Amino acid sequence: RMEVTETFAGMSLPGYLHTQESLRFASSFQFRDTDVVIATYPKSGTTWMQEILTLIRSKGDLEPAKTIPNWARAPWLEHTYFKDMLQETGEPRLITTHLPCQVLAPALRKSKVKVIYMARNPKDIAVSFYHFHKMAKFLPDPGSFEDFLIRFLDGTVQYGSWFDHVKGWLSLQAELGLFFITYEDMHKELGRSVEQLAGWLGCPLQPEAIRAIQQHCSFSSMRENEMVNYTLIPCEIMDHHQGRFMRKGTVGDWRDHFTPRQNMLFHKIYQEEMRDSSLCFRWLM
Ligand code: PPS
Repeated sequence: RMEVTETFAGMSLPGYLHTQESLRFASSFQFRDTDVVIATYPKSGTTWMQEILTLIRSKGDLEPAKTIPNWARAPWLEHTYFKDMLQETGEPRLITTHLPCQVLAPALRKSKVKVIYMARNPKDIAVSFYHFHKMAKFLPDPGSFEDFLIRFLDGTVQYGSWFDHVKGWLSLQAELGLFFITYEDMHKELGRSVEQLAGWLGCPLQPEAIRAIQQHCSFSSMRENEMVNYTLIPCEIMDHHQGRFMRKGTVGDWRDHFTPRQNMLFHKIYQEEMRDSSLCFRWLM
C-alpha cells in the first residue's frame, strides 16, 4: 500500500493524490463565474454527477463521455495533476472537489461560480468507502468493517468527518446559492434530477436529450463505460481483484452490512451530530 498521507486543515488525505502545494493551490484557486463545481464527500455519487454534467454540457451528445476519462473532464481541484487537466476540461469548466467548505469558501466567495453539493446516506457511504479502501492502494488498509465504522463516525478516516463536511457545505447553501441534491433523489428519479440540474445551470434540454442522458447514466451502463469505471487504472493503484469501483449502485446496502448494535451506535452519533441540521431526520431509516 502507498501509505503516504498529507495532513491539511485537520484531516488526512492520500499523499498519492495530494501535496501541500496542490492543496494550497486549490484553496486559493481563482474560479471563473462560468465554472461549475461538484462538491462531495467521497462515495456520495461524485462520478455519477461528473457523468451527468458532462452530458448536460454536451446537450446529450455521448461522445465526450465515451472517449475522455472522468478525471480529465471534471478534474479534482485538490489533486496534483489538476493544473494539467484543467486545459482539457472544456467550457464551462467542470471542477470536482472533496474538500470541506471552510477551505474553499474564501475562494468561492470571490466569484459567481455555480456549486452543486451532492450528499448520500452516510450509512451507505461508510459501506461504499469501506469496500473502496480494500481496492484503492493509496488508502490505508480499512481493517474490519467494525473498526472502519468507528473511525468513520469519529471523523478520523481520510477526508475527515462526514458530519462536518455536510454541515459545513449546507451552512453556505444560501450564501453561495448551492444546488443541493442527494444520491437517493437521483436514484429515485434520474430524469427529473437531470432536468432540474440542466434548468438550474441555464442549459434546458429537449426530452430526447434527457432520455439519452438518463439511459447512459444508469448504473448498468456506467459500469461498462471504461471512461468512468476506473478499470483504466492499473492494479497497483486500484486492485480490481478486490472488487469493482462500480460496486452495487443501490440505496440501503448498509442493511446487509450493519449489525443492529452498529446501527444503534450510528443513530446515536447521527442524532447528536445532526441535531441542528435540516437533514436531521433524513437518513435515520
Ligand atoms: S469517489 O471515489 O468519491 O469518486 O466515489 P463516488 O463516485 O462519489 O461514489 C461511488 C459510488 O457511487 C456509485 N455509482 C452509482 N450509483 C448509481 N448509479 C450510477 N450511475 C452510479 N455511478 C456510480 C458507485 O457504485 C459507488 O457506490 P457503491 O455503493 O459502492 O456501489
